[in-house]
Amino acid sequence: MKQRVIGVAATAAALAVSVFAAPDLKPPLRDTWSAQEVATLASMRLAEAGQRPLDASNAYEQRAEAAALGRALFNDARLSKNGQVSCASCHSTTGQFEDGRPFGRGLGAGKRRTMPVMGAAHSPFLFWDGRKDSAWSQALGPLEDAAEHGGNRLALAKQVLSQYKAQYQAVFGPAPELGPLPDHASPHGSDAERTAWAALPPATRDAINRVFANMGKAIAAYERNISYGPSRFDQYAEATVRGDAQGQERLTLQEVRGLRAFLNQGQCVTCHNGPLLTDHAFHNTGVPPTNPRSPDRGRIDGLQKLLKDEFNCLGPYSDAKPEQCGELQFLSTGDAGQLGAFRTPSLRNAAARAPYMHAGQFATLGQVLQHYATSPRAALGHSELARPEDPHAGRQTIRLSAADIQDLAAFLGALTGPVVQPE
Ligand code: HEC
Ligand code: HEC
Repeated sequence: MKQRVIGVAATAAALAVSVFAAPDLKPPLRDTWSAQEVATLASMRLAEAGQRPLDASNAYEQRAEAAALGRALFNDARLSKNGQVSCASCHSTTGQFEDGRPFGRGLGAGKRRTMPVMGAAHSPFLFWDGRKDSAWSQALGPLEDAAEHGGNRLALAKQVLSQYKAQYQAVFGPAPELGPLPDHASPHGSDAERTAWAALPPATRDAINRVFANMGKAIAAYERNISYGPSRFDQYAEATVRGDAQGQERLTLQEVRGLRAFLNQGQCVTCHNGPLLTDHAFHNTGVPPTNPRSPDRGRIDGLQKLLKDEFNCLGPYSDAKPEQCGELQFLSTGDAGQLGAFRTPSLRNAAARAPYMHAGQFATLGQVLQHYATSPRAALGHSELARPEDPHAGRQTIRLSAADIQDLAAFLGALTGPVVQPE
């Protein structure tokens, strides 16, 4: 597939490592790391992410025609109540696939920060609270959200079948004959829309749901091809693993100090680990709520929404067999740590994506790091970050000096690489 690269250019030459005839002739490394640290660095290389895991609930995600349709839908503002909002309005396709605002803004203002699309296909759960378990099911949320596209299911299905009938049929087979129908109907939305939805025969509702689900499956096929490209950190980690002294110069000494703090005194790698610098899990880290009187409950509510969602992996619109929905079948619902917990975001390209956290609470990386240095008590639930007066079993207090904070901020900058997407 042809790919276009935006942002920092990663040249093949910069990635190439020198080859020596005999290993013992290699010059000594500038930075030495323990065997365990080298193993950790190796596990953080982007290449370790490998192919995106297949989504058994979406049988169309690898079809090029599905991705082409999905791309058109992603950019189509007609799929909104006022004809002005597309996915790309908040997920800018020429930047980091987000909007740089504390809250996503469509028809109204949302309550959470827009997330980038790049790592989404690798995560078992989507959104800050993990209320979706696939990229296709995720895409259906904003289309009917009053603050985002503000659409309704019936109008959206009609739009797709009228504007994209040939493309739709080429991927999903014959479009359903929906017969005479009202203009608007949805199980969500206004009273009138919900009443109209309830009045439809079950078979019609099912046919509309299927077209709606297929919109999501096409969009997911497109999103699958949008990914992070390698950063200077990856080049450094590769060089360190191979014992290439020259390659280590891809990071400055300050960035290397920041990397040491990331692995050691900052304990960052306990949550931000693996090739995407995330454990794909949910943690309460005591980030202050934007509205203290009604704090965002995060994962605990996301979990209930996921279990009730007709578009989840076990639902009637999923292409997976029940045994392929392990993530959903073995969810732990009784874990008290889910109150006020949010998904660990990828740190790839984070330096290019201020503001930070689930509601853009912090404007700069310096403020994020100061938050970890302080590890405040959580407003809701319990922060996992240990505090000196309240140590947690299994976790030590994060101790960061002012110099560590500067070094860490510099290091986070070295995690920025290009955004890779189809031409
Ligand atoms: C009004 C702005 C807005 C629009 C329009 C919008 N999004 Fe989002 N997007 C967001 C926000 C805000 C979040 C995080 C919301 C949350 O976690 O509750 C998000 C999250 C996501 C995620 C989750 C990424 C992850 O790693 O979990 C994906 C994928 C995504 N959006 C794709 C889409 C698609 C596809 C569309 C169009 C159908 C779309 N978005 C429309 C603002 C928007
Ligand atoms: C206990 C797990 C955990 C630890 C330890 C941790 N983080 Fe995080 N990190 C998270 C979670 C969860 C969020 C999102 C929190 C939220 O939005 O409420 C986050 C958010 C961030 C963000 C904001 C990214 C964005 O896109 O908004 C940055 C930057 C960050 N962490 C860096 C670090 C650094 C550097 C360290 C070490 C000093 C660290 N983290 C330690 C779990 C952790």
